[in-house]
Amino acid sequence: MSGTFFDLLDSVARNELILVEDGILQYYLKKNGEVTLSMIISQRPGVGQQLLSKLYEKCKGKTIWVRCPINLTHSNNWWVKRGYRFVRQETTRKGSFLNVYRYEVPDDDSNTH
Ligand SMILES: CC(C)(COP(=O)(O)OP(=O)(O)OC[C@H]1O[C@@H](n2cnc3c(N)ncnc32)[C@H](O)[C@@H]1OP(=O)(O)O)[C@@H](O)C(=O)NCCC(=O)NCCS
Repeated sequence: MSGTFFDLLDSVARNELILVEDGILQYYLKKNGEVTLSMIISQRPGVGQQLLSKLYEKCKGKTIWVRCPINLTHSNNWWVKRGYRFVRQETTRKGSFLNVYRYEVPDDDSNTH
């Protein structure tokens, strides 16, 4: 089995995998209380927002970090539209570029992003 398989199993054990029809979101709650969003895939319009709403329910008041490959123009635009703030650009070990974004999840239910 690949590393991805064991990564997913680990997320299941930590209750950090959100599955809905046509979508998956994997995240990781760090020791410092912040959240890394590892993967989000939507196979139908509306599902991406549905997944984020479920994540926010579980992460009220927390900071979420996302790393998005710079060549994924659609996805980068989507994060910005969803209220994520660009923080910096990073280079991976293989030399590709990632945009790093952060988002503060409101404590209450006023989140509309
Ligand atoms: C990025 C992704 C998760 C978005 O999911 P989605 O289901 O298409 O998104 P939604 O339909 O829920 O988005 C809804 C909102 O975003 C807006 N939106 C959709 N695409 C957009 C874009 N490219 N730029 C800006 N806004 C966009 C919609 O207009 C809508 O806005 P509204 O609520 O104000 O009307 C999806 O395209 C995907 O799985 N991409 C491939 C995997 C990937 O790139 N993941 C992220 C890696 S960092």
